[in-house]
Amino acid sequence: MATVLLEHPAAHVALLRLNRPEARNALSPELREELRDHFLALAHDADCRAIVITGDASAFAAGADIKAMADIGPAEMMASDDEANWAAIHNCPKPIIAAVDGYALGGGCELAMSADIIVAGESATFGQPEVKLGIMPGAGGTQRLTRAIGKHRAMLMLLTGATMSAGEAFAAGLVSQVVDDDRTVEAALSLASKIASMPPIAVAEIKRVVLAGMDASLDTAIMLERRAAYLLFGTHDKNEAMNAFIDKRKPVFSGT
Ligand code: CAA
Repeated sequence: MATVLLEHPAAHVALLRLNRPEARNALSPELREELRDHFLALAHDADCRAIVITGDASAFAAGADIKAMADIGPAEMMASDDEANWAAIHNCPKPIIAAVDGYALGGGCELAMSADIIVAGESATFGQPEVKLGIMPGAGGTQRLTRAIGKHRAMLMLLTGATMSAGEAFAAGLVSQVVDDDRTVEAALSLASKIASMPPIAVAEIKRVVLAGMDASLDTAIMLERRAAYLLFGTHDKNEAMNAFIDKRKPVFSGT
C-alpha cells in the first residue's frame, strides 16, 4: 500500500495525502522517499500549478518514525541521504499548501513549514518535541520556526517541546489561515485553485523571490525582485492580463 496517495481533485491542482493512519502519518523512510518522488515528478509536470499536502483528521504527521530511528546511529543517518528527500520539497517551484488537521509534530511540523501556505483546522497542534527524545529538529525546524515566529517563541517550543494550538500558531504567524476542522482540505484546495488560475510564470517568480530574498540582504533581495518583475514584462500572460483588463474580459493564461 502506498504511504503517499496522489489525487487530482481540480484542474491544475495535485493533492498529496500521507497514508499511514495507523502511525499518525509518521514519516517513515519509505514515506519520505515516496514524497520525494512525487515532488520531483510534480515539479516537472507542466499541468500541475499548485500542490496541496495533507494527512488525515487525527494527524498531519507526528514526525519522523521513532520506531525506525530507535536503533540507528549517525553514520546510518548520514548514509540515508534524507537531505535529498527534503530538498525535493524545498526546491519545488510549484506553490505548496499544507492542509493541517490534528498533530503536526517534529518532522511533521517541519513538513508543514516547508509549504508556502499553511491552512490549519481549528484543532490542529504544532510542535517540535524532538528535545524530549534527546535529539533536535534536523529538517529545518530550528531555522524555519525561528524565522516564522521569532527567536523567543521558537526557543520556548524547541527547548521545552511545548506545542501550539492552531489559534496560537495563527497569532504567532506560523499559520496562514484557521478554518473549521471539516473544511481544512476544502479550504486549501480552494486556495490552490485560485493560485492555479493565476499566470504560472508570475506565481513561480513570486515564490522564488520570496524564498531566495528571505536569506539575502534587503538590497540584494530587492534587486532580485526588480529583475524578476522586469522579466515578467516579457511574458505572453502579462500581455493577456493587461489587455483583458483594458478590454473588460476574463484573461486566458497559457503559462508562457
Ligand atoms: N513514530 C512512530 N510511530 C508513531 C509516531 C512516530 N513519530 N507517532 C505515533 N506513532 C504510533 C504510535 O506508536 C502508535 O502505534 P501503536 O498503535 O502501534 O502503539 C500509533 O501511532 C498511535 O499513536 P498514539 O497511540 O500515541 O496516539 P495518540 O493519539 O494518543 O497520540 C501523538 C498522538 C501525540 C502524536 C503521539 O503519538 C506522539 O507523541 N507521537 C510522537 C511525536 C514525536 O515525538 N514526534 C517527533 C519525532 S522525531 C522527529 O520528527 C525529528 C526528525 O525529523 C529527526
